[in-house]
Amino acid sequence: MLTPSFAGMSDAILVEGLQKRFGSNTALAGVDLTVPEGSVLGLLGPNGAGKTTVVRILTTLLAPDAGRAEVVGIDVLRDPGRVRSVIGLTGQYAAVDEYLTGFENLEMVGRLYRLGRRESRARAGELLERFDLTDAADRPAKTYSGGMRRRLDIAASLIARPRVLFLDEPTTGLDPRSRLAMWEFIADLAGGGTTILLTTQYLEEADRLADRMVVIDRGRVIARGTADELKAQVGGQRLELTVSSAAELTDAARLLEPLAAGDTHADEQTRRLSVPVRGGTDALAEALRLLAGSSVEVLDVGLRRPDLDDVFLTLTGHAAEDGTDDREPAGRTPAETAGSAR
Ligand SMILES: Nc1ncnc2c1ncn2[C@@H]1O[C@H](COP(=O)(O)OP(=O)(O)O)[C@@H](O)[C@H]1O
Ligand SMILES: [Mg+2]
Repeated sequence: MLTPSFAGMSDAILVEGLQKRFGSNTALAGVDLTVPEGSVLGLLGPNGAGKTTVVRILTTLLAPDAGRAEVVGIDVLRDPGRVRSVIGLTGQYAAVDEYLTGFENLEMVGRLYRLGRRESRARAGELLERFDLTDAADRPAKTYSGGMRRRLDIAASLIARPRVLFLDEPTTGLDPRSRLAMWEFIADLAGGGTTILLTTQYLEEADRLADRMVVIDRGRVIARGTADELKAQVGGQRLELTVSSAAELTDAARLLEPLAAGDTHADEQTRRLSVPVRGGTDALAEALRLLAGSSVEVLDVGLRRPDLDDVFLTLTGHAAEDGTDDREPAGRTPAETAGSAR
């Protein structure tokens, strides 16, 4: 299936210089990325970064203003029909028919892919089983919980055995338990050799599932690499301390200034100060000495290795899960979640 124009023969996804504007709003300002066949790429970024725009272009739903995009060597602009035949897409919002049962939803998608009645029904049964939906197979989708809908939606995207799967924020809005279950399904698929491009705002999700990550912010790639490479980029350890009142944060930051090896970050809400330091435990001892004679009351202090949240904070100046947020609060009952998954 690979055509000679294809740059890296083992890349299942190739994106070069992708640009897209909506009126005066630049959604993509020149994005490059590749995803090796059989691997998982985590496309990370805050709300509005351009993640869904990349996915929509790669899945032939939107044309770029400039740049090139290929899926398994097929150009998305020149041959959208062939691209659609090798991909699966699960959007940010589940696209299931409320009034059809789980089984009927999957059977219908099979027929849309022209699998034939027999094969469509067989695939539907198989996938319902795989996504723990067999018991709910004959119930209308409108009775499903948010997590069940998401599973049904992913099952639908797998009907035609896609080589490349696009998952756009697959766990946004799910409660923690459904999120864990979804992670297992995705890890399973990746283990089976499906190439996956996954967008997410959750760094833990990318850390667990993705082989490599591309971080975008305001339509530009700001970092790329494995989780370890990204963490190394931030470097060193961080001294973290919690003070007894937000007013003390400024004083604490000033006192610890001589130790700071980079930008100190203060969070008023958690009354926590995070200071990048060199020298590990020496820095910790020195910090305690600097604070000892002061009026700052320290409730908690410790050293921490950088995690992806630090990477994000360092790169973008804001936390990954900042901004407008359409997640539902955790711990809702399935019945409450059922009506609001769209
Ligand atoms: N159809 C559209 N019309 C106008 N602006 C859009 C449209 N789709 C996306 N945008 C804008 O493009 C930017 C990137 O959006 P999007 O790709 O949805 O980001 P993300 O998925 O990372 O949250 C945002 O500023 C968004 O408001
Ligand atoms: Mg999006």
